[in-house]
Parts: sequence; C-alpha cells; structure tokens
Amino acid sequence: MDTQILQISYSLNDIEQAVKRFWEAVQPYSLFAFSGEMGAGKTTFIHKLCDYLHVQDAVSSPTFALINEYHFMDAHGSDKIIYHLDWYRLRDSEDAFNAGMEDCIEQAIAGTAFCFIEWPEKAKELLVRPYLWINIKTKDISEREMTVNLMELGIGN
Ligand SMILES: Nc1ncnc2c1ncn2[C@@H]1O[C@H](COP(=O)(O)OP(=O)(O)O)[C@@H](O)[C@H]1O
Ligand SMILES: [Mg+2]
Repeated sequence: MDTQILQISYSLNDIEQAVKRFWEAVQPYSLFAFSGEMGAGKTTFIHKLCDYLHVQDAVSSPTFALINEYHFMDAHGSDKIIYHLDWYRLRDSEDAFNAGMEDCIEQAIAGTAFCFIEWPEKAKELLVRPYLWINIKTKDISEREMTVNLMELGIGN
C-alpha cells in the first residue's frame, strides 16, 4: 500500500522551512527515492537537507562520483552516514548492482545509513519496502511542488 504523507509547495525563499517539515514527516525511514525531471530540484533539496542536518563534508553533486558519502551527528551525538546516489547515468538494475548500489541500500534497510537516490526509476528493482517515493514538480520558474509517498511493506518494489 502507498500512502501520501506530505504535499508541499516551496520556493528557494522558503525551502529551509520545507526541508524542516519534510524531515519531521519522514521519520523514522532511511531509504529515499527522489523522482522528478531534470532541473526539478532534487539535488537542490538534498543539499538543503544536508545543510539542515549539519553535514560536515562538502556536499557536491554525485554526477561524476555516482555515490557520495556524507556524515552528520544525530541528536544523540552518534555519527550518521548519508549516501547520496545519482542513478542518471545507469541503464538498469544490473548497472546499479555492479556500481555497488546494493550495499548502500542494505545499510539503509539495516538502519545504519540514509540513502538519498536521484533518478530511482533507473533501477527501481533495487528498492526495498518500506521506502519513501518523493516527487518534485516544477509549478513555475521558482515554485516547486513536492509529494512524499510511503511505500509500505508488501509485495513488489
Ligand atoms: N523552489 C525551488 N526548489 C528547488 N530548485 C529551484 C526552486 N526554484 C528554482 N530552482 C532552481 O532549479 C534548479 C534545480 O536544479 P537541480 O536541483 O540540480 O535539479 P535536479 O537535481 O532535479 O536535476 C536550480 O537551478 C535551482 O536554483
Ligand atoms: Mg540532480
């Protein structure tokens, strides 16, 4: 079953507020699929989310690296890992598997890391429920609409 847990519109002026609402709504999940066209704002939102979480590393686009690893300290002072994955240049699940994406997803399932995935539709077979399916749509030049769906435990991806 899929349940919509959040729908918000935001501009770059109020994106910090959107990030805060998002982060409160998505607890306690760790696997995040960010869908949306090129330029919709997936990378921008993930970077703002990393700022909000006080990520210590330089947050850059994973366009070349495919897998970027960041670290932040949670409220209890423990080190948390974020894997920022960009599947744009992958063809399919086999490509994703060969690039080592499954290891990141396994850590998210185990609750030892967060996975933020751009272009998740390229290798949807790798996703394991429960995960969050986030869609970002361009409403106009500065306004975006985000919907967050919880893909609950069940059969299939
Ligand atoms: N409300 C908004 N949220 C996110 N990005 C926005 C917004 N308004 C304008 N933008 C712009 O849209 C572009 C989104 O690019 P990017 O985040 O790289 O998209 P994607 O990763 O989805 O391809 C950026 O140039 C950003 O400044
Ligand atoms: Mg991007």
